[in-house]
This record gives sequence, structure tokens and C-alpha cells, in this order.
Amino acid sequence: MDRMVEITNVTKTFGDITAVDAATLSVDRGDFLTIVGPSGCGKTTLLRMVAGFETPSTGDIRIHGKQVADVPAYRRSIGMVFQKLALFPHMTAAQNVAYPLKMRRFDPKEIPGRVERYLDLVKLGGLGDRRPHELSGGQQQRVAIARALSFSPDLLLLDEPLSALDKKLREEMQLEFRRIQQELGVTTINVTHDQREALVMSDHIVVMNDGVVQQADTPVALYREPGNRFVANFIGVTSMFPATVKSVDGSPITVQSGSALLKARANGEVLALDALVECAIRAEQIRILDGDSDAFDNRVEGTVEQRIFEGDRVVYAVRVEDLADSILYVFDHDPEQHNEYPVGGRVHLGWNARDLFAFPSLN
Ligand SMILES: Nc1ncnc2c1ncn2[C@@H]1O[C@H](COP(=O)(O)OP(=O)(O)OP(=O)(O)O)[C@@H](O)[C@H]1O
Ligand SMILES: [Mg+2]
Repeated sequence: MDRMVEITNVTKTFGDITAVDAATLSVDRGDFLTIVGPSGCGKTTLLRMVAGFETPSTGDIRIHGKQVADVPAYRRSIGMVFQKLALFPHMTAAQNVAYPLKMRRFDPKEIPGRVERYLDLVKLGGLGDRRPHELSGGQQQRVAIARALSFSPDLLLLDEPLSALDKKLREEMQLEFRRIQQELGVTTINVTHDQREALVMSDHIVVMNDGVVQQADTPVALYREPGNRFVANFIGVTSMFPATVKSVDGSPITVQSGSALLKARANGEVLALDALVECAIRAEQIRILDGDSDAFDNRVEGTVEQRIFEGDRVVYAVRVEDLADSILYVFDHDPEQHNEYPVGGRVHLGWNARDLFAFPSLN
């Protein structure tokens, strides 16, 4: 594969804050990579270093094998869309899209054709004469995308460009971005704190926390094989509870939490007997059992504390005394066909060993 961006052991400090800590990752040509992580974890700082707006304190960033810092801004072939729209308010949509072409001294005869082509691409054909205030939020964001792409950059950088939009529009635009990116094949690095957006849009995902890359993988692999407790907890609706390792011969292993003995998977980690672990279980892997069922490796009993109707599903929060009083979140994806479990009622829960991850505790 052809590497477009290579970030090697990059650290960025601001005074005594380490914003990015020894990050290593790469992006192949044509790939859509999303960097996801909580607020303040270093996503924007990393993106700004790729753009060449910040210089790494240590480490190396290359685009096409060249260090970015050495290339002046107007020579970098990078399109950018940021959270705060930076459309020029006094220019029409078409003039905004033409701006980078003029800056880069494209042949004036070529510019109108390009502007039209990119406005069509973002489905704004015919609206080129409008100024930003005459466009909706989503339309303005499309102009920003057309402007970032009109000069055929090698690399597109997106820093939470959708976060200001309402949920429905944001979800539409996620698919729209993906369509445009695939149509053009432009290598893209997208930044978000929204795990769903990362899963929906990306070929690859990098999860960051506290400046440190936690895991880099495809969406499916990241979801199914979280490499540590942070990733397991951050991606998906996940319940965590502490436990102690009771047997490690063979797979699955056995752990004890409160008075419950459970079968779990160690996901490649070597765990010692009596080691403290954090167990993680996804809400969609737990079933509410009607009566006693031995169809599952693990079964516990608990009290419904909350029942949340979300339209396409019901989320139950169940307090399980046997699991050190932990709360487990459980989805019911077909509530019309199922019993309704009232708040305060007792329920039996079941899930399988392969869905219960055991990670080493941090302390
Ligand atoms: N110019 C700066 N001077 C000092 N500290 C900074 C500077 N820029 C960023 N930081 C700090 O570095 C850390 C990472 O910031 P960054 O903006 O990269 O986070 P982020 O992941 O983009 O967060 P968000 O999701 O809130 O946008 C934060 O602790 C932030 O306060
Ligand atoms: Mg940011």
C-alpha cells in the first residue's frame, strides 16, 4: 500500500502540558481515517501538526515522504474543513469555492468549470450566487467542503466539521462526506469525539486518550476486538465492573465479581491468578431472560433502575447486587414483541463468555 501520511513517535508539549504523547500512525492513499477520543485528548493538535500549523516537539511527520514543516503553507496540497465555518461572508458560494484556485494561480479559464463541478459534487448546483447567510447550516458546510476540495488536494483534513449541525443533518452529512470522499478517492483524516460518526464514516479508526494512541484498526475490528479497557468503554454502550481472576487454564477464563463467578475472554492478555481485572460487556450482548435459561454462559439477577424508550429500542439500566452492585445497560431491540420490564422489577440477565472482556486493572 502507498503511504500518504506517516506520523512517527510524535510528541507535542505546550509548557508542561503534553497534548500528544509519542503518537505513531499512518494513512494510506485513498483511505478515510478518523481520529476519535474525548475532549482534550490531542486530536486537533495532531491534525494541526499534519497541516503544518504546529511543529512536533519531537518526532516526525511526513506526507508523501516529505516533512510537512519544511513545505510552505501555499505549497501544501491539503484541503481543510474546521468546526467553525470559515466561509468568507461577503463572497458568494461560488467565489468561496474559487478562492483557493485563485490563491494557487490556477488558469482563470479553468476556474469557473471547477467551481461548477465541485458545487455539483456537494449538490449545490444552481446556488453558487448565494452568500453564506442565504444558505442553511448544512449547505454552508457543503460550500466549505467544495472549497477544501476544489484544487484537488492530496489530503483532506476535517476537524469536527459536523459538530455544529443538529443530529439528523449531521447523520445525513456523514453519509454525504463518505460519498464525496469515495467518489474522489481523496485521502482524508477526520477528527471527532463522536464514536458513531467514526464507525459510520471510516476505513480506519485511531482511538486516542490523554495524548496517547490507544488502538488503530478498522471499525469492525475495533468494535469486536477492543485492545484495552479504554477502547472497550469508549466505543459502544458498554458496562464495566471490577472482578478477580479465578482460573486461567484454557479459554474462557473464570472471574469473580461480588458473589458471581463468570466466564470471560482475556483478549490476548496474559492474566495472572487473583489479578484484578475490569470486565466490559456491550449492551446488545445481554439478554433479559424469561425465567431460567441455560442458553448463556453467564447469568445474573438484578433490579431494573431505569427504562429508557429510544424509539427503535428500549435501554434498561439494571443494578446487579452480585456484581459488586454494578449497573448493566441492556438493549431490547424489539420492545413491541417483548415483555415490558417495569422499574423496580427483578430480571434475569444472560450473556456469553466471548462477549465479556476482561482487561487488567490500572491499579
Ligand atoms: N496552544 C496551546 N497552548 C496550550 N495548551 C494547548 C494548546 N493547544 C492545545 N492545548 C492543550 O492540549 C490538549 C489537547 O488539546 P486539543 O485541542 O488537541 O484537544 P482535542 O482532542 O482537539 O479536544 P476537543 O475534542 O475538545 O476539540 C488540551 O489539554 C489543551 O488544553
Ligand atoms: Mg479539537
